[in-house]
Order: sequence, then structure tokens, then C-alpha cells
Amino acid sequence: MLFRAVRGMKDLFDTDWEKYHYIVEQAIKLGKQHGYKIIETPILEYTDVFQRSIGDETDVVSKEMYTFIDRGEESVTLRPEGTAGVIRAVITNNLVQNLPIKLMYHGPMFRYDRPQKGRYRQFHQIGFEHIGDKSPYADALAISLAFNILSSLGIIDFKICINTLGDDETKKSYGKAIVKFFSRHKEDLSEDSQRRLEKNPLRILDSKDNKDREICSMAPLMTDYLNKESGNYFDKVCDLLKQFGIPYELDNFLVRGLDYYSHTAFEILSLKSSGAICGGGRYDKLVQEFGGPDVSGIGFAFGAERVMNLLGNSVIPSQKCKFAVIPISDNECDIALQVLRELHNSALSAEFIHNGTISKKMKIAYRLMCDIALIIGETEKNNQTITVKFMRDNNDKGKMITIDLSMLSSFAKYYISKSISK
Ligand code: HAM
Repeated sequence: MLFRAVRGMKDLFDTDWEKYHYIVEQAIKLGKQHGYKIIETPILEYTDVFQRSIGDETDVVSKEMYTFIDRGEESVTLRPEGTAGVIRAVITNNLVQNLPIKLMYHGPMFRYDRPQKGRYRQFHQIGFEHIGDKSPYADALAISLAFNILSSLGIIDFKICINTLGDDETKKSYGKAIVKFFSRHKEDLSEDSQRRLEKNPLRILDSKDNKDREICSMAPLMTDYLNKESGNYFDKVCDLLKQFGIPYELDNFLVRGLDYYSHTAFEILSLKSSGAICGGGRYDKLVQEFGGPDVSGIGFAFGAERVMNLLGNSVIPSQKCKFAVIPISDNECDIALQVLRELHNSALSAEFIHNGTISKKMKIAYRLMCDIALIIGETEKNNQTITVKFMRDNNDKGKMITIDLSMLSSFAKYYISKSISK
């Protein structure tokens, strides 16, 4: 029997690995420009950390968490998202002394969801949290950072949808209005939404059920219940986005799948595939819930796999030049290894290919995407030379020349500078 990866979990390698790290690198570069510092929190947290902050009635907590009792009889959970762990870490490490603080993170998250294209049980997020600055400027700058990251990756086929969930007062009065509305349609709601009506009515607006969605389209709008302060706050965020030249669409039904949001909420959707590539918003109560001061935060996270999906292979920085060092027989391995070490010592990429016939070795070199083969046979060994075969370069492909062994370094450097200037 063959071993399988756990359903909904993927091995990350080759071009996908390159793409993931390229995205992370770009995001971190831009994050640093905006003053974010990196934080790494454990993948495993006590279950409370997520349960309390994300909300019992959310799909994430009620259906999707990987929770188990560890050997010390403690309930622990594989993190389904990054925000809760970061806020926990800010409190645990007393970083509240340094507010406002901007932190970014990346890594695997776990949700026991139904796997399909773009939806996995282990996926990666790249997230940003700006804690301790409650102002529309912080919201607009966060959305603008998300926009800039996608633009820097050459991704343009997306739209930014934003909404406001208002403050506590707004949420209460809007909550009453939608309970009244949905109660009239209770019989037609899905089982899940009937339950939500009792416990967390706002969640119904987030339902994926078709019939629920139809009913939701007639529901009262949050914007009609915003108090003056929340309305002004959101208007200012929208004004700033316009000022920054960030295109956005208003989506009155965007409530997000996690309970901790208030005021600004946003998602970035691909125009090519379904599912959000990024989600975020402001959280007013989260820090306090973790025992910290009464400060607010704003943040967002990209789903790396969904961003990778939109990224062409062309963005992967190609290796400038790679050498294949090929001894014709075992007798030339010693000198070939010398060559290999000289290349590595000069910080150049080189593979040592010694198995099989010369044609098999050349095939391996092509498969490994080598640009130049450095072939050493008996004659070369006796004459202290190397036969150079150009394998990829458009002009020189197939051409062979002989160089003196002593010229190896200068030849390699010359060739690299030639390939870089192309
Ligand atoms: P979220 O919307 O739950 O927000 O997740 C953020 C992104 O993670 C989504 O937009 C999506 O791209 C990706 N994602 C979520 N679930 C999956 C999945 N099963 N497979 C693949 N990708 C997925 C959060 O997690 C918040 N913590 C974001 C945030 C940060 N809010 C404030 N600060």
C-alpha cells in the first residue's frame, strides 16, 4: 500500500515552492517598506486562543478546526488563521508596551474544509497586523499595501470589495433589524442559518447556501443602520482610497467569516477564479479580549495558494547560469570534483553528473536545466583542459570549445556576466 498525503494537504516543491517563496519575499519587502516586522508564532495554540476570538458560531470554529487533546490533557488546535496567535503573542511578550506595532507573518494554516481547487486543509497565509492605531488612515494604508503587493507581483485581474460593520452600537441595531427580517423567512433558511438566527444572526449574511443567499439579497442593509461616527469613519476610509488611486467596490453584504471584525472589512477577489485571495478588516475588541489594553487593530491575510494560482511561471527568477560537470569515466572523477568545488567556491551553481554513459549524463544535464556542460575525459585530463558544451544559449547552443583548466574561473565569470547582460 502506498502512503498518501493527508486529504487536502499538498507537498510544496519545484516551481510551486519557488512561487510561494517569491510571493513571500515580495510581500515581506513591501511590508518592511511600510514598517512591518516579522513575527513567527507557533502553529499549535491552546484551543481557547481561536475559540474565543474567532467566535463559536463561525464555520471555522464550529466545523473546521483541527483540535485534539495533547498528552498533557490540554486541548490544542492547529492554527486556522494567523491573527489570533499574533495578538496572543503581542500580549504574552508584552509588546503592548510598544504600540502602535506592525507585524507580518507567513506560514501554514489548517482548516478542515471540503477540499477543492484553491481550497485546502493545509494552506499558507501571508498576513499583516497593524495594532494600536485606530484611524481611517491605518485602514486605507493597509488596503493600499495589499493592493501594492498584488501589483508588485504583476497581478491585475482582481477587485477589492469593502464594507463597514460599524461599531458595537451599529452592530446591535443592525442585528435587531436582521433578526426581525430573517425570522419572517425562518422556514426557508438552511438548517445552519436557522441555528445562526438564534446565536449569531450576522453570520447568515455569510452563508454559501443558494436559498439563503436569495433571502439575503432582500435583507436590510448595514449602511442604513450605521451611526454617525461609524458612517463618518467609513466615508473617510473610502475618501482616502480614492485619494490613493486604489480602485474598490462597495459590497453591503460582506461580513467576513470571522467574528472579530468591526468597522472596515474587505476582501480581494480574483476576476479569474472563485474564492477570495485576501481578506481582512478592523478588529476593535480582540486585543482587550486577550487581556490587553483597549486598542484596535487592522490587518489582512493573503491565501498564498490562491495568489500562486494567479501568478505566471515567468515571474520566477530564473537561475542565471548553471554548469554540469561531467567526467566521462570514473578515472576523471577526481579532477571533475576539483572543478565542481572551484565553481561552488566562486558561488556558482554546478551539478556533478557521473552516472551512466555520456549520453545518459548529457540527458540528465538537460533535465536539470544546466546551461553549460564541462566535460572531462582522458584527453582533457592528460592535457589539463576541459571540453565546454553550450547547452541552452540561443546563439551558442550545441557549440563546443576547449579551455585550459586554469582558465575555468575566468571563463565561468565571463560567461555569467554575458548571460546577466542579456
Ligand atoms: P480569511 O478570510 O479567513 O481571513 O483568510 C484569508 C485568506 O486565506 C482568504 O482570503 C483565502 O485566500 C485564504 N484561505 C482561507 N481558507 C483557505 C483554504 N481552506 N484554502 C486555501 N486558502 C484559504 C483570515 O484568516 C484573517 N486572519 C485575516 C486577517 C488578518 N484579518 C485581520 N487580520
